[in-house]
Amino acid sequence: MLRKIDTCFSPALYEPEQHKGSVVIIIDILRASSAICTAFANGAAEIIPVSGIDEARDYKNRGYLVAAERDGYVLDFADFGNSPFNFTFEKVSGKTIVYSTTNGTGIIKLASDAAIIAVGSFLNIKALLTWTGNQDKDVMLFCAGWKNRFNLEDTIFAGALASELIKTGKYSTICDSTLAAIDLWKLAENDPRAYIEKSAQRSRLREKKLDDCIDFCLSTGFTEIIPVLKNNSLVSLNY
Ligand code: MLT
Repeated sequence: MLRKIDTCFSPALYEPEQHKGSVVIIIDILRASSAICTAFANGAAEIIPVSGIDEARDYKNRGYLVAAERDGYVLDFADFGNSPFNFTFEKVSGKTIVYSTTNGTGIIKLASDAAIIAVGSFLNIKALLTWTGNQDKDVMLFCAGWKNRFNLEDTIFAGALASELIKTGKYSTICDSTLAAIDLWKLAENDPRAYIEKSAQRSRLREKKLDDCIDFCLSTGFTEIIPVLKNNSLVSLNY
């Protein structure tokens, strides 16, 4: 039986009851999902995603290592912010990290009813495609967007995943969001870096001088790890 691929462009559009049996892939390539993949590649033991600032502060007061940002800026009580370059081997190896970001960690919570929740980025795209293709489940590509709005960078990544999954012959789609994501990926695939120059997050990161990680976030094959949610924490599936 062909499995279906759906795409959601914003947390405001997500319908948890529709995806209880699906693999949900969490997408926030600039920068939360890339940072999560980097943390696990550098040996993090566990990442506890939390939506609220108070909850993150509470964990900090209890002695946890906390990565937290809002609008790109590191929160004053946090150990570090959201650049993948913060999640070095020295800082994260063997550690549990509590993690709270503007958009990305919230959608992990929203999706938590799904059969399987995995985190995707260009950094783990190759392993993610193989692993997803072996799950024999419908797929929901859940884009974090920006504060409930559509964004380009997550959409082209969803389009890249959807086109490759359809090529396996195991999937089809009649979801217009997925078809639109595939069309945008076709525009971007020859030079994704140039394509996302126009995106709002590109401008936000440039203005805040946080754009040094963009080339890294667009690189493929950095890690084979698939971060998956188990008992409300992300752990690494070595694939
Ligand atoms: C988020 O989770 O909201 C983003 O990835 C924020 C960012 O890194 O700028």
